[in-house]
Amino acid sequence: MSVNRNVHGWPFFDSINVRVNGRMMPVTIAGAGSPILFIHGFPLDRRMWDAVVSLLAQSFLCVAPDLRGFGKSREERFSFSIADLAIDCRALLRVLQINQPVAVCGLSMGGYIAMEFVDRFTPDVVAVVLANTKAELDTEAARNARFASANGALRTGSPSVTLSMRERLVAPETLSNRPGTMTQLDTMLTETPASTIAWAQLAMLARVDFTSKISNWNVPALCVAGNRDVIVPTDTMSRMSNAIPGGKLDVISDAGHLTPMEQPEAFANAVREFLFAR
Ligand code: MLT
Repeated sequence: MSVNRNVHGWPFFDSINVRVNGRMMPVTIAGAGSPILFIHGFPLDRRMWDAVVSLLAQSFLCVAPDLRGFGKSREERFSFSIADLAIDCRALLRVLQINQPVAVCGLSMGGYIAMEFVDRFTPDVVAVVLANTKAELDTEAARNARFASANGALRTGSPSVTLSMRERLVAPETLSNRPGTMTQLDTMLTETPASTIAWAQLAMLARVDFTSKISNWNVPALCVAGNRDVIVPTDTMSRMSNAIPGGKLDVISDAGHLTPMEQPEAFANAVREFLFAR
């Protein structure tokens, strides 16, 4: 394990590289306490969790990896599935010797992976937080848009495809009032390699339909929505929380699709209260 220290203060905030099943997985590890696994969205990386991790590290052990091909992980040459990404996350926890059940928190694509994780590794999960995501499959139009995005990324290079998404990802309030958040977002959008965009779009196209599976879950679940999310609207999140037995819903104000980046304090409070109350 090679260690690249990046200390932000209380209690600690490290960035390390972990070898998982033959591939190097960069991961942020911070804090101490019951573990939370944070799974990033598309086409972002673990930095989208930085603000929330800084807040929650006071009470929890926070683990936030870069998935295959994203962030500081090596560009991916081969296709992967959403299940592969869930299996990577489980293997990461084992390599880190986190053997107790964890809370799994995923945003959007990370939510699809979190659902896979709950489904495959149920005994390893104490609770799940599903942010700005959905259980159902894509519409025909959304499927076509994924093919177009994968093609466009490979043909033109990633920034033009991903940067064109930026205004749909956030609330108007974030766009005008949070320049630091927008800069961080633009950095991630620009740095994601074209091949990763293409493989991830194909993985999301082929994901499993969780609409009936979630109604059989027996795990505490919190669904977090942004009141300005145009990608996964609040009523979709509300339907999902109603379908999960005992599921809870938290709608965050002045936030679009990226609730943890746009309103980190509200997001961290929602997760903390949910996990302490269970
Ligand atoms: C994400 O934010 O991860 C994406 O919106 C997921 C998707 O394209 O379905």
